[in-house]
Amino acid sequence: MKKLLLAATLAAAACVQAGTPAEDQLLQALPGIFEKSGAHYRALLEAMKAQPPDSFPKRFQDGKLVSIKPKDWCSGFFPGSLWYLYEYTGDAFWKDQAVAYTERLIEPLRHDASNHDVGFRTYCSAGNGLRLTGDKRYAEFLHDTSAALRTRFDDNLGLIRSWNSPKKGGGHFGTKYIVIIDNMMNLELLEWDAKNGGDPKSDKIARSQADITDAHHYRPNGSAYHILDYDPVTCRVRAHYSGQGGNVEGTWARGHAWGIYGFTMMYRETRVRRYLERAMKAADYWLDEPNLPADGISYWDFSFVGEERDVSASAVTASALLELQAFAPPAKAAKYRAAAVKMLTAMASPAYFAQQGENGDFLLMHSVGHKPGNSEVNVPLNYADYYFLEALLRFKAMMAAKPAEAKPCCRAFYAPYRMDDFAWENDCLGMRAYGPVIMEPAPKGQKLVSSGFDVFNKCVDYPVLEKWLHGKGEGSYHKDHGEGMDNYKVSTGRGVGGVGMLGAGGWTYEKNWKKQRVISEKPEEAVFELEYEAYTIRGTITKGCPLVKFEVRPNEGVTLAAQRLIGPGLDVSKARQHNGKMKVGFNPGFVANWEPEGVDGQKGSIGTAIVLPGMARIASDDMDCIYLLQGEKTFTYYAGACWSGAGLFTCASAWHDYVENFANSLAK
Ligand code: GLY
Repeated sequence: MKKLLLAATLAAAACVQAGTPAEDQLLQALPGIFEKSGAHYRALLEAMKAQPPDSFPKRFQDGKLVSIKPKDWCSGFFPGSLWYLYEYTGDAFWKDQAVAYTERLIEPLRHDASNHDVGFRTYCSAGNGLRLTGDKRYAEFLHDTSAALRTRFDDNLGLIRSWNSPKKGGGHFGTKYIVIIDNMMNLELLEWDAKNGGDPKSDKIARSQADITDAHHYRPNGSAYHILDYDPVTCRVRAHYSGQGGNVEGTWARGHAWGIYGFTMMYRETRVRRYLERAMKAADYWLDEPNLPADGISYWDFSFVGEERDVSASAVTASALLELQAFAPPAKAAKYRAAAVKMLTAMASPAYFAQQGENGDFLLMHSVGHKPGNSEVNVPLNYADYYFLEALLRFKAMMAAKPAEAKPCCRAFYAPYRMDDFAWENDCLGMRAYGPVIMEPAPKGQKLVSSGFDVFNKCVDYPVLEKWLHGKGEGSYHKDHGEGMDNYKVSTGRGVGGVGMLGAGGWTYEKNWKKQRVISEKPEEAVFELEYEAYTIRGTITKGCPLVKFEVRPNEGVTLAAQRLIGPGLDVSKARQHNGKMKVGFNPGFVANWEPEGVDGQKGSIGTAIVLPGMARIASDDMDCIYLLQGEKTFTYYAGACWSGAGLFTCASAWHDYVENFANSLAK
């Protein structure tokens, strides 16, 4: 009977996806959770009548409600929670309360740049207000607060300063240039500003902050440091500090949670792959950490097993995971979704969700603000409630979402803009091959005779090559404007995967392609053909795969001489510095090269590879291209590349392992 009732409830909810049993249970519990939350917050609003008129509830400790002023970093969370209650219920009571509490922030914070917490205070409050009401006053306020936040950015360092030095040489952190992981949370405000008629520099600042945080704030195991001090002249990290964590090399749970949330948000806003990779690595650290309790609610610091839990950190993480699951590949998406549902189910249980009249009428018990400072230990905190409500709304939206339509990702197209390139790309890389016009001398062509394949290093998951080749980007595509760049040189070599032939008389190569055809272009896969004098290559580029499939067949009426070997080549020449770390396999045949950072003015490292499952011989020519060769005239090989700037592969061993496993999986 219970089961039947549940099925009926779920069927009644329009557009609701069929979920796992845990998801269905949480979905069914949502109305009750929001009803109880509303009752708690009505009581809290009553209690606030005894507090100063410009204050906000922050915590309940030692039997007392503690309220804060607008400049406290937590002032935006209570108004934000009121907006979330309005969003769920549509009840004007909550809107009126949210408007009134948001109003308390506007004038005191409009130009306040006393620390970096601008986004916490203003975007969680007025940002939600703007989203739900469209009130232009909120937009003006947010543009002003973005401008205030921008004043904390140091152009040389590329970072927003988190905390001021109270006195020269004095104060807790003296004259240090402090940047904390929490700062990732202030970047959403800047992204909003840049996209909504504010200063385009806001986006550049947000990306710079995210890039440098990505580079320096994480340990190899994926856990985050809390506080870094930078030298503003050399831009080097001078020191690491533990701050609210238990020790420098430990992992403070909430700081780590800010990173998961912040990098997921930055991926949503920019589609830069390395932000997604960072968010997933950080999420995996949290979920795979052996010390994580079974209910997913972490200790306040991952190294302090058995001490207090920090529900606030877990609420931030649950909310982040519900956004991240929409961007992650299927297996990870299922893992993140299941973890978030488990955490929310625990938080909604009596173990963490307070009884009415207890806990100062905050929703969640058991958060930790600053244990090393012996402050706010095992208390309710307003931001735990805020991210809990946000996560519940994200969960509801996820369950109601129709399966997302696949976004265009793979492309193959003729690009006559420069001369006659043919280009193909997916979410990992772009490539091109040269056509007949470019073989002619200037002024019509450039006299480049080459059947080599060129590589474009992109770091975003949407198509960019047509825009780049058409010259419609922000400037030359030889410079990275945030989407990646062309910093690979192919010239007359084989580049990455151009074909060579070895016979009794030595090496021969085809000239440029004569004809090109797009066979199909779908969001997840593009297929094309390049016809050379002797053979035709059919290319298939697939979403998520940095190696492109190439099938070679002789053209009709052409007999490739029986004694010739044929196969893909890879430029590993010293002359062009493509001589990084290389790994070669013979059965199945593969070559994976890793070009070191910075050679030839190159930004980041480039990994290149060719794979030929049925390889008979490996050889190299006098242009320092290495070839995988075989006698069959009809054959399939793979070629492709990665760029460290995209974040998918950031070291030689990861690329080598990927290519080797790829080759082995083909052989199986
Ligand atoms: N942003 C300060 C904290 O997370 O406690």
